[in-house]
Amino acid sequence: MTITKAFEEQFGELPQLQIQAPGRINLIGEHTDYNEGFVLPASIDKYISFAINKGSRDDLARVYSIDKKELYEFKLTQLDAIPSGGWRNYIIGVVAEMEKAGAKVKGFDCVFTGNLPQGAGLSSSAALECGLSYGLNEIFALGLSRLELVKCSQKAEHNYVGVKCGIMDQFTSMMGQENKVIRLDCRSLDYEYFPLELGDFTIVLCNTNIAHELASSEYNVRRAQCEEGVALLQKYYPEIKSLRDVDINMLQAHKSEMEDVIYRRCKYIVEENLRVLAFCDALNNADFESAGALLYQAHEGMRTEYEISCKELDFLVEFTKDKDFVVGSRLMGGGFGGCTINLVKQKDTAQFIEEISKVYLKEFDIQLGCYHVNIGSGVKSVTDIEY
Ligand code: GLA
Repeated sequence: MTITKAFEEQFGELPQLQIQAPGRINLIGEHTDYNEGFVLPASIDKYISFAINKGSRDDLARVYSIDKKELYEFKLTQLDAIPSGGWRNYIIGVVAEMEKAGAKVKGFDCVFTGNLPQGAGLSSSAALECGLSYGLNEIFALGLSRLELVKCSQKAEHNYVGVKCGIMDQFTSMMGQENKVIRLDCRSLDYEYFPLELGDFTIVLCNTNIAHELASSEYNVRRAQCEEGVALLQKYYPEIKSLRDVDINMLQAHKSEMEDVIYRRCKYIVEENLRVLAFCDALNNADFESAGALLYQAHEGMRTEYEISCKELDFLVEFTKDKDFVVGSRLMGGGFGGCTINLVKQKDTAQFIEEISKVYLKEFDIQLGCYHVNIGSGVKSVTDIEY
């Protein structure tokens, strides 16, 4: 079926616009974005796809989720009627935040579907937000820039979903380019595209198929803990604005004044920022062994200091450690489930997938999802989409 057809079945006419919004991977730099640090993500060739039309009524939005077979209607005059959870919150949140940014969204009809696994740490939520905001901006010629749409999408998640996320996911979904990774400075929002050249290696994602409920509440706790660390250090270093400005010596000098948990959270972030920069150097030098070692270090930091791993993720990472054909592995995304990202010798990928799937099934009785992803482009209009 095509998305145009699905739209026609739902709303009885053809859509004017079809949009594809990608998910993302992140090579390294987890939880550094809201600490104004560095990240190294890329948009992938898995998407949420939309068909959109102006609506027949100026004050009514009608959005149909093809996958969930659910229709959501809301009045554009009642954007403070926050739904009680699920995909609807992202939708109304995007519209509300675009309005707050000064854009006048009118009534619209929309259907969407996705091939991005949810809860896998591939940012299906950012794809949902970015695809919708981009589509509305186009169809009503609202004139917001891509960066403004990124910010509206991020705020939708803060204010209508309740996750105080950083900017990485929305930025990547909106700004991604084919075959390029983005080195983003989350403070200045300066960014650079790098071709992703991995020599004999390739990226394989392993999805635990575990999505812990904890993820969003613990996410906000981590963010608050980082802020607590910054507040304490500011007494001694008033120039500090975020953990981006902190080095390990500053942190160690005041270790005894902090709760141990705050110290560990801050240490992980300070070191993870350095790892992003070191990882870029390693890629530039085609030194994949060093790049891989940084992935393992990142995972160790997330397991023991930031404490966002879980037994399934740890098992997958541990399994790779004595395999000659894997140079690095770590959990990817917010944590508490989702995927590991693995740097694997291209010629041994099939063997890797076979072995790791088998042991995972045996250990947890859960089917592992393994994906090869290509680096696709950021949000764009397309002619029609098969799903
Ligand atoms: C989630 C958030 C991002 C980022 C990652 C962790 O995906 O949406 O902003 O913080 O977790 O790196």
